[in-house]
This record gives sequence, C-alpha cells and structure tokens, in this order.
Amino acid sequence: MKILSLSCHDIYKGPLILVNQAHGLDESAAEDLIPVTESRPDALLQRPAAQALARLMDEIGGWQHIAFVSAWRSRREQQEIWDDSLRENGPEFTRAYVAVPGHSEHQTGLAMDLGAKKEQIDFICPDFPYTGPCQDFRESAAKYGFILRYPEGKESITGISHEPWHFRYVGAPHAAIMQEQNMTLEEYTDCLKRFPYGSGLRRVADNGREVCISYLKAAADPICLKLPEEDSWSLSGNNADGFILTEWR
Ligand code: DAL
Ligand code: ZN
Repeated sequence: MKILSLSCHDIYKGPLILVNQAHGLDESAAEDLIPVTESRPDALLQRPAAQALARLMDEIGGWQHIAFVSAWRSRREQQEIWDDSLRENGPEFTRAYVAVPGHSEHQTGLAMDLGAKKEQIDFICPDFPYTGPCQDFRESAAKYGFILRYPEGKESITGISHEPWHFRYVGAPHAAIMQEQNMTLEEYTDCLKRFPYGSGLRRVADNGREVCISYLKAAADPICLKLPEEDSWSLSGNNADGFILTEWR
C-alpha cells in the first residue's frame, strides 16, 4: 500500500484541471513539458499528453497532413496573442477566440491547436476540416484521451466560441465518457462531485477493466489516501476545490 497525503495546493495540477475564465491557472500547472515530435522541438506538451498524441498521430499517419499550430504557451506569449488580436481583430473576436492571459489552457501544456497542412495557416482559427486526416484525428481523439474542448452549442458554458481545432488532453477513460455524455470539462468536473470517494462512478473501460472515478473535496488539513502500490490509479486536481481519483480494477 502507498499512503498519499493531498494538500489543498495539489488541486492545481493534473490532466483534469478546469481552466477557464472563472478558474485561472496556477504557475505549477505546467510540468514535465516535452516536444511531441522531433520535427517541432518548439511545440511542447506535458509528457502524458505528448505521448498520447504521438501514438494517435502514428495510428492515423497524421504528421504528413496535420500541422501543429500551437501547443504550450507561456503567460507572456498568451498576453502577446491577446494584445495582437485586440489590435487586429477587436475585442469581440478576441474574447470569443482567445483566453484571457492567465486563463488559457495552452499555458497548462495540456492543450493544442492543430490545422490541415497548407501554405497559409491562420494562427488563431486554423482550418480543421471534417474530412480526411483531420476527421480521422477527430474520430480517434477520445480513445487517446483528447476532447474537443470548445464544442458548438456549449459556448455559454465554456465561454469560448466553437473551436474545431483546439484539443485538450484529459486522459482516458474521461475523454470517452465526456464524448459519450456530450459533456464539456465544466459539466464533467461538476458532475463528478455527485460521486464522492467510496461511491465512485463505475465504468468498463475499453481495455476491459472496470474503472471507478470519484471525487474528493480538498480540506484545510491534508487528506490521507491509502492506494495500491502498483500503477492502477491516477489522481488529478480539478483546479477548483478538490481531486478526481481514477482507479482501474
Ligand atoms: N483559443 C483558446 C481559447 C486560448 O486562447 O486558450
Ligand atoms: Zn487553442
């Protein structure tokens, strides 16, 4: 058995952190950033996201046709993008398509923008068509732990316009559940609060093992958890008020 002590500062890290207008980013959120592909050493993601993306791209032969438009961004880069867009596109467009600096998922290293490879690629709104390799990517994304973060029809919940090119790593099996239930990350992290530790949400994951997902509310005193030694669980903060524990059985 392994004994884990979770302090309230640990809620700001992990693949299920909710980052939006209401939930800004903690400096510690982006950790272990690595390049996804040798051909783009400047495009960084957190290690599990980078590894999952590399496997997905291998499966669909994606790198030949799909360009990495934007991955991890520093706060300074996000500020530059925000300022440039305000100047070039005005406030309405900017608020619709660019997150306020300090509130962008790109600053976590868990999100990326992809675009169909072509001569001119729009940096803020790249083309990501519903055909060919981009559609193959879209269809396989959830299996590898990625969600379309800003879907059509959910703008009032996410606070961002529909972005067919922006994908966010949340990990499997969460991506598949969110896709199946048509839930945004806002809705999913909220829904999980109905499944406190001890009475988790049970699912059969696609590897045939049962997965149990539960929520633990952070408290002023550290929470102690006894978990198996082996690699059969993962834990993430939600960047709001607690943790999400995922256990494979
Ligand atoms: N385009 C997304 C919302 C960002 O700027 O983080
Ligand atoms: Zn993006």
